[in-house]
Amino acid sequence: MGGLSLGFATWIWYRLSNFQTAREGGMEFRHGQDIPLGISYFGKYYIFRSEKSLRAFSTACTHAGCRIGKGNSNTLQCGCHGSQFEGETGKPTKGPAFKSLTELECRFDIKTGQWVIRFQPKG
Ligand code: FES
Repeated sequence: MGGLSLGFATWIWYRLSNFQTAREGGMEFRHGQDIPLGISYFGKYYIFRSEKSLRAFSTACTHAGCRIGKGNSNTLQCGCHGSQFEGETGKPTKGPAFKSLTELECRFDIKTGQWVIRFQPKG
């Protein structure tokens, strides 16, 4: 019985962690080329820019769906239960979350000279 309850609770957490990203599906945000190195936080998502790449991640915590906030210069922190995530990869560095943050579609629009972030998991 305890195993069944634990399985059900795990299933609910899994569903909730995907809820915010699914609800935001298809939204699009544009940025100029002046995005600084490191984490740039925009509420629903953040951008991590390194010398070599630019990646965007949803800020919906993969534990139970709370919105994560900026930790220090290279990490993000969830205020609900304390999970921490590495900014560059979205991987959890401290639980209870064990899934990586959802990486979003991110492309450079040559016509407008802008970065386009789309609430669509990167495929
Ligand atoms: S919802 Fe983020 S750690 Fe629980």
